[in-house]
Amino acid sequence: KLQLTLAIIKPHAVKNPVALSYIRNVIKNNFVVLKTKRMILDAEAAGSFYEEHVEKFFYNRLVTFMASGSIDLHIMGHTHAVEVWRKLLGPTKVYKAQFQEPYCLRGMFGLSDTRNVAHGSDSLASAEREIKFFFPEFSLYNWYTND
Ligand code: CMP
Repeated sequence: KLQLTLAIIKPHAVKNPVALSYIRNVIKNNFVVLKTKRMILDAEAAGSFYEEHVEKFFYNRLVTFMASGSIDLHIMGHTHAVEVWRKLLGPTKVYKAQFQEPYCLRGMFGLSDTRNVAHGSDSLASAEREIKFFFPEFSLYNWYTND
């Protein structure tokens, strides 16, 4: 059964042609891509997307950064989409990524814990919430059934 996840390529990676084409190849070679969209989030939308982090010290920094330029969104399918995309991303913290898994996307292109290349849903439930957030017109149901 196809599982879906949402990838968000963050503004610094969208602006870096080498990073962007590398990331796109990784995505193309590992997933079926169902939907892709480029957009600019305003601070309000970025704030509500990351509302679970509202109490964290990095919240304002994260929201400002995510609203600072274009992001690329991809709805991606794989039998283990959530886990596979997070594995390809590597650890959230850039020092961990660089030292422990230098060939993961965050190890290669991460600049800081905030500018860590891309986002991946952390569970099926968040994938569903996040896909709805960015693609309200997208019907999960149509992809899960054949009739
Ligand atoms: P993301 O997968 O988009 O989900 C939450 C984001 O918060 C995370 O990636 C990072 O960009 C950011 N983040 C998490 N931990 C830290 C931290 N310690 N310092 C700064 N930013 C962080």
